[in-house]
Amino acid sequence: MREGTATLIRREDYTAPAYWIKTVDLTFDLDPIKTLVINRMQVERNTALPVQPLKLHGEDIMLTRVLVNNESVSFRHEDGMLVIDNLPEGLFQLEIRNTCCPEKNTQLSGLYTSGGGFFTQCEAEGFRRITYFLDRPDVMAVYTVTLRAAKTQYPVLLSNGNLVEQGDMMTGVYGPRHFAKWHDPFPKPSYLFALVAADLVAREQHIRTRSGKDHLLQVYVRRGDLEKTEHAMNSLVASVVWDEARFKLPLDLERFMIVAVGDFNMGAMENKGLNIFNTKFVLANPATATDVDYAGIESVVGHEYFHNWTGNRITCRDWFQLSLKEGLTVFRDQEFSMDMAGTATARAVKRIEDVRQLRQLQFPEDAGAMAHPVRPDSYVEINNFYTATVYEKGAEVVRMMQTLVGNHQSDPLGREGFARGITLYFSRFDGQAVTCDDFAQAIADANPQSELAKQLPQFKRWYAQAGTPRVSARGRYDAPSRTYTLGIEQTALPSPGQPAKQAYVIPLAMGLIGRDGQALPLQLEGEAQPVGTERVLVLNEARSFFTFVNVDVEPVPSLLRGFSAPVVLADHLADADLLTLLQHDTDPFNRWEAGQRLALNRLLAAVKDEAPLQLDDAFIGAMRTLLHHPELDAAFKELALTPPSEAYVAEQLSAVDPQRIHQAREAMLLQLAQALRDDWVWAFESHQVKGGYSPDPVSSGRRALANLALTMLCRDAIARGDVVWPGRAYERFKDAGNMTDRLGALTALTHSHAELAELALQRFHMLFKDEALVIDKWFALQATTPEKDGQVFARAKQLLKHRDFSLKNPNRARSLIAALCMNNPAAFHRNDAAGYVFWADRIIELDSINPQLAARLARVMDRWSQLAEPYRSGAGEALKRVAAKPDLSSDVAEIVTRALQQEST
Ligand code: BES
Ligand code: ZN
Repeated sequence: MREGTATLIRREDYTAPAYWIKTVDLTFDLDPIKTLVINRMQVERNTALPVQPLKLHGEDIMLTRVLVNNESVSFRHEDGMLVIDNLPEGLFQLEIRNTCCPEKNTQLSGLYTSGGGFFTQCEAEGFRRITYFLDRPDVMAVYTVTLRAAKTQYPVLLSNGNLVEQGDMMTGVYGPRHFAKWHDPFPKPSYLFALVAADLVAREQHIRTRSGKDHLLQVYVRRGDLEKTEHAMNSLVASVVWDEARFKLPLDLERFMIVAVGDFNMGAMENKGLNIFNTKFVLANPATATDVDYAGIESVVGHEYFHNWTGNRITCRDWFQLSLKEGLTVFRDQEFSMDMAGTATARAVKRIEDVRQLRQLQFPEDAGAMAHPVRPDSYVEINNFYTATVYEKGAEVVRMMQTLVGNHQSDPLGREGFARGITLYFSRFDGQAVTCDDFAQAIADANPQSELAKQLPQFKRWYAQAGTPRVSARGRYDAPSRTYTLGIEQTALPSPGQPAKQAYVIPLAMGLIGRDGQALPLQLEGEAQPVGTERVLVLNEARSFFTFVNVDVEPVPSLLRGFSAPVVLADHLADADLLTLLQHDTDPFNRWEAGQRLALNRLLAAVKDEAPLQLDDAFIGAMRTLLHHPELDAAFKELALTPPSEAYVAEQLSAVDPQRIHQAREAMLLQLAQALRDDWVWAFESHQVKGGYSPDPVSSGRRALANLALTMLCRDAIARGDVVWPGRAYERFKDAGNMTDRLGALTALTHSHAELAELALQRFHMLFKDEALVIDKWFALQATTPEKDGQVFARAKQLLKHRDFSLKNPNRARSLIAALCMNNPAAFHRNDAAGYVFWADRIIELDSINPQLAARLARVMDRWSQLAEPYRSGAGEALKRVAAKPDLSSDVAEIVTRALQQEST
């Protein structure tokens, strides 16, 4: 697939480019089979380095001509690069002509076709698949782009920046042609280049920023999808307003465009002024999109928009610094969604969802074959390092910085200090390509008195060390002296290439709670008076002690509030303490966490002791109280009443038996369904949402709880042989006024293995056969149904042959393959290894079509060495078979090689 052989790229080998490219003038003659690219660059040698040849990246393209200052020159190909010697001193013009074949580009990196149009994806190294270039983020140039194409097929011609000229051309053999010329005044790295040529329509809106400037916002989609763009546009407007309000970062472009495309490897891409989105994160109406989809659109639109400053105005010096833009921008989109949510509980719900995601994806990554620091030290394929660690853990590192620039008196959360840091960051580095060190230094320098500034070098170990730190806390109350002492230890396990770790700086937000629930004043030894009822302790050694004085009663500690650091906490709390926190903690995150811990303890006991799970009255009573709680939000209740996922339970164990975990969790769900039957009826009936659809947190929380209740009621009914609730679920499925409720009812039927599920699935397909994103849901739902007697796996295999299935469309491929292999452990991990055979077959097939996507799906095997037998052996065989595929892409090779290296560890 790729030219050249797989080599390891190391962070410490970074050198500045030997040449700078100042301007690029690109002309495209767009044709699906053979597109002609004329690339005229103004190039200048980097005089800081010794004289050397110019080496340009290029991949899967046909070179037709090379001119320097309009004269032909000699060149050679070396290690997959185009090498030109003996170049003039000073500024010179380099003209390259080449062709490429968008239609054959099934990798969806570079220039490709989708739904009859042309689209690009250049991050991280896709621009070299369009033309020869210094395809690295520290080479920033000003682009002018001319697009020429058939006018009837491709009426819309877009690129970055501003439209400077457009018009008709002479009619070609295939009919009339036209052109458009775009100019982007901001110097940018090649990965931010984009073009679109397609038959699209746009929703438009004007917006005025604080300075009084008017801007045009556009959301481009295929004809017929226009009525599904309102939410994306609203989200874009909200993003523009938010970034200016919270960080004083205004929209810097006259025109900002979003384009939706049906074939896309990722979620979305932040190309300057021309974001390209997977349709999944643009299109929504109440009939086709769920509340979760609406929330996803808001956060992805926000994320890509926020990159306009964090990523585009200031970009990465090299790809090892990826978290500089991604970790920071995920932090920003999380904060945006929280601010949009409004109330304290709605914010907490978002935080809980983000932490759940981190634990489900990043913690396993940090403990498995692909463990790497937030700023990796080496890679083979940079695409494999767009990971949960770089993104989600990177966002946590930024969040900790915000916490550590806070001060109790005037800025407890650190928001103001952090915003000051962002302002300094832009005043120092606007227009440059920089490093994570530069970022951290700016945040610290803007807050010289802060804990962050005082401990910056040690804090930066979060960027350098892989693995999730463990924090172990024990409290001791001394009644005679009325003191409470917390002893806290931190440890970090070895990870690949990092046998020993050094202590981190860990902000630990905490409070102390009395038995009857009151928050106790916090006064540390040596302090004149208490400092509120919540504070941030800063751990920076292997072992720390904190003594609180004037503590009247033995407290329950509430530690790591709001999940103030990405660590695993062992607080050694007994059930009674957890029940106290569940009932009384003022921190909603820890309240949720207490409930999860109670459930987790029970699941782990059942799995480890091989004893059937039997829920106790205390647990059931606590869950019932929670469900009926008059002050808690429905969204929060839904999260608190959902037991930890099978994947999260697996993470707590060293020899994982996915079947046993599945049995224990299924038993827990059934017992919760049975014991709380009347309560679920109440929950279902009292959380119906009346009136028109709105995806706001209150309505979507009510729908989520009602749908959970319905699933529980169906589970209980099926176990009893009762047909009433499945019947009601079917009626609701048929009559639902929105996709959230329709899919909720369908899920209740499929997850309880009701007979009516078949009929409902058929009907669902018929209703939505022309809605690709809904058909994705149809596949995913079937592939994620809780396994029962191997039926779910058998059906997934059958679905491979369905006429609507295709591996070529990433959303569709994920809807079946990722859904089964990543989100349905009990269907995937079979003792006959058939799941692993299925996995290997698909990875091998997909590797020849789309190696990036194949490598992502290959990641399910990261943790194979933790599996118990016979799973472990079966998984190992499958990995070896994939590794042995001739012409295996370097993308997949890196993943399976690293996995197989786990064998010995
Ligand atoms: N820059 C990325 C898109 C990207 C990732 C391009 C990897 C090429 C390779 C974009 O900003 C991004 O992070 N998108 C996320 C969604 C986001 C909300 C976290 C994605 O596509 O999953
Ligand atoms: Zn991003």
